Amino acid sequence: MDAQTLIQKLHDRQATAAVIGLGYVGLPLAIEFAEAGLSVLGIDRDAAKVAALNRGESYILDVPAAAVSNALSAGRFEATTEFGRLREADTVNICVPTPLRKTKDPDLSYIVSAAEEIARHLHGGQLVILESTTYPGTTEEVVQPMLEAGGLLAGRDFFLAFSPERVDPGNPTFRTSNIPKVVGGIDGPSTEVATALYGLVVKSVVPVSNTRVAEMVKLLENTFRAVNIGLVNELALMCRDLDVNVWDVIDAAATKPFGFMPFYPGPGLGGHCIPIDPFYLSWKARQSGFESRFIELAGHINGAMPRYVVDRVSEALNTAGKPVQGSRVHLLGMAYKPDVSDARESPAIDIAQLLLRRGALVSYSDPYVPTIEHGDVVLDAVPIEDVLDGSIDCGVVTTNHAAFDYGAIVRGLPLIVDTRNALKGHRADHIFRL
Ligand SMILES: NC(=O)c1ccc[n+]([C@@H]2O[C@H](COP(=O)([O-])OP(=O)(O)OC[C@H]3O[C@@H](n4cnc5c(N)ncnc54)[C@H](O)[C@@H]3O)[C@@H](O)[C@H]2O)c1
Repeated sequence: MDAQTLIQKLHDRQATAAVIGLGYVGLPLAIEFAEAGLSVLGIDRDAAKVAALNRGESYILDVPAAAVSNALSAGRFEATTEFGRLREADTVNICVPTPLRKTKDPDLSYIVSAAEEIARHLHGGQLVILESTTYPGTTEEVVQPMLEAGGLLAGRDFFLAFSPERVDPGNPTFRTSNIPKVVGGIDGPSTEVATALYGLVVKSVVPVSNTRVAEMVKLLENTFRAVNIGLVNELALMCRDLDVNVWDVIDAAATKPFGFMPFYPGPGLGGHCIPIDPFYLSWKARQSGFESRFIELAGHINGAMPRYVVDRVSEALNTAGKPVQGSRVHLLGMAYKPDVSDARESPAIDIAQLLLRRGALVSYSDPYVPTIEHGDVVLDAVPIEDVLDGSIDCGVVTTNHAAFDYGAIVRGLPLIVDTRNALKGHRADHIFRL
């Protein structure tokens, strides 16, 4: 099938789109494709997720269960663990995880295993798009040779592109459809068909010159955030020494209508992107002898924030004549950011771990994270109302969930370390800011 035939098939809604990896990125995309009228095959190796989706349930807050069941009943969506079904697909989006190894080297094993499956079932005229965040060169150096191993050639027999995912879980304003989508193919026709596919679900598609540019765009965006968060975290530490309220400074600076963009300090980086993606870039740069100093420095500053928060807890307890050892410290929020259920890489986990090591009795509340199991941190959430009775020595606002009643928290906890400025407007001697 040539590019124009596939584009026509997409426009006529006669195409079948496969999405591999039905997580925070893949599931919303799969449902958007189904809502746009394509037949969608969602492929995941997690049988429990597949079964839940086929029952019309959703485990992603941003994807309502009704959207899944509507897509199912319209016959436009089906989840499966069967990679052989890839033979039915005209397009394949790869949305699998790209974590770091303990050594902070990229772990491409999920991409490799997805590419192996695609290679087994690849057919002429298929479009394959990698969406997982990764270092520049992955599509051409890793995925392309694997797909070509069976004899089909990218560009001649099938289309291949990279398109970075920009989804922001929990963001009510920006969803898949109104976030511009960057697309870079290995050649013009690949870019063109990938642009046509996304054009069905995204208002603005931004074609770029090649896959490496598209891969680098995502890393620039996330490195930009990591470095700026590192800068404000350092500024927060500096402001404390200078007795200046860093939040007031940032809010006032943000009134400048040009040349400034606010970033906020906090207990450290979390989530699947900002703490990880920049290290994909620095690893790749190091392969050609380039040391990326900004990335390393920001990683260093941001990585030290949980320890700093624990020092603040220790200072707060000190004012009540209490040691950390044996004190009951309650964390408000386990998710890495407000109003989401994602606790991956959450700094609250690091803070809990550091407090446990210093002998504190740690508990937490989080309306979205009922339980956490990570190394020594094995805890069940307790309802916040249950700990506002004087039983806690110190609370720590680790995640500024909107669902928390901060007035009640200020009244019910004897000491509070606020790492998120969630208690803005509350003035009391027992509140300690970052
Ligand atoms: N979560 C975000 O906010 C976000 C934003 C932008 C980009 N990204 C990037 O998107 C990619 C996916 O992230 P995510 O947050 O959706 O991950 P996730 O862990 O939520 O979902 C990944 C899914 O892939 C499945 N999976 C893993 N290996 C598989 C395989 N070989 N075959 C089939 N299924 C497989 C898992 O079971 C899981 O359901 C990552 O590269 C991430 O960096 C994530």
